[in-house]
Amino acid sequence: MTTMESLIGLVNRIQRACTVLGDYGGDNGAFSSLWEALPSVAVVGGQSSGKSSVLESIVGRDFLPRGSGIVTRRPLVLQLQKIDEGQTEYAEFLHLPKRRFTDFGVVRREIEEETNRVTGRTKQISPIPIHLSIYSPNVVNLTLVDLPGLTKVAVEGQPDSIVQDIENMVRSYVEKPNCIILAISPANQDIATSDAIKLSREVDPTGERTFGVLTKLDLMDKGTNALDVLEGRSYRLQHPWVGVVNRSQADINKNVDMIASRRREREYFASSSEYGHLSSKMGSEYLAKLLSRHLESVIRARIPSITSLINKNIEELESEMDHLGRPIAVDAGAQLYTILELCRAFDRIFKEHLEGGRSGGDR
Ligand code: GDP
Ligand code: NA
Ligand code: MG
Repeated sequence: MTTMESLIGLVNRIQRACTVLGDYGGDNGAFSSLWEALPSVAVVGGQSSGKSSVLESIVGRDFLPRGSGIVTRRPLVLQLQKIDEGQTEYAEFLHLPKRRFTDFGVVRREIEEETNRVTGRTKQISPIPIHLSIYSPNVVNLTLVDLPGLTKVAVEGQPDSIVQDIENMVRSYVEKPNCIILAISPANQDIATSDAIKLSREVDPTGERTFGVLTKLDLMDKGTNALDVLEGRSYRLQHPWVGVVNRSQADINKNVDMIASRRREREYFASSSEYGHLSSKMGSEYLAKLLSRHLESVIRARIPSITSLINKNIEELESEMDHLGRPIAVDAGAQLYTILELCRAFDRIFKEHLEGGRSGGDR
């Protein structure tokens, strides 16, 4: 398990390296295709379906901007990295590489400010992602992309095109064959009307890369339950549905913390007369483990294609280095050199993992 955990960490580092290199402009075709070859999990759902709440439960921290309307206006690429027990939890933005954030309230403000820096305060959206890494003993290794909520109407101050713009942005992520879709639907609405399921059905008709998450189980009308959905009778996916109970708005207003809320969620399922028999496969903590395990197995299966892309990049980088000439004085040259080294290291490590995977089989 430890080797597989570090495998996700490696992929995270390549993703960051590709992004940094992308900033230098020019022809980075090979790097964007490498990015796309690396699997990650995109969070998809209608507005207020509970996307932010699910993400915060997975992280175990309050750190996402809140409010009504379209709060998430740029993709947030969230890389979770598990560190040893007892080490200090911190967050780091790719656009502020020298700053370590230990106050998650400040992380939230930085996400808001960085969103506005690109979109202005105009409630516009932008496809340029914000990259945030969280290092914590309380997370599983996972890369998640938070996306703007799907919506049906523009609000005051937004162009009518925003509805379609959001859908196009979300679609650009979920249509990639390497994208794992975390489709969020609220239990207090008919599943047939779920924006998340509508879109995932289109891009992943067999349901092999979609994980269905049902939020707000606690808000269903008395006398009704979600067993038809959770047991796969309403809408069948290859992976089992996971039900969650997030904090209500009242809980958030009362500052109920994530630890207490995770505990309450566990108690909710354990004591539920309807869902008790499913309780070991429900809740945010189970969801995080399920996703991490799945991501690992997808990465393992992709190792051969990832290494061949990396090798292509090594060649490209080497020829680019020759153009620049060594010794490298300019910043871009140094950056390229770092990435070349990273790629070489990854190539080695991936090959080791591949060999380990053939002989071992650790699950
Ligand atoms: P998003 O727009 O999809 O990111 O949705 P949010 O996570 O911001 O949630 C919207 C509202 O629904 C917030 O007031 C949450 O407190 C509330 N909410 C989300 N999930 C649940 C849940 O499982 N139970 C209850 N009672 N409220 C929830
Ligand atoms: Na939403
Ligand atoms: Mg949100």
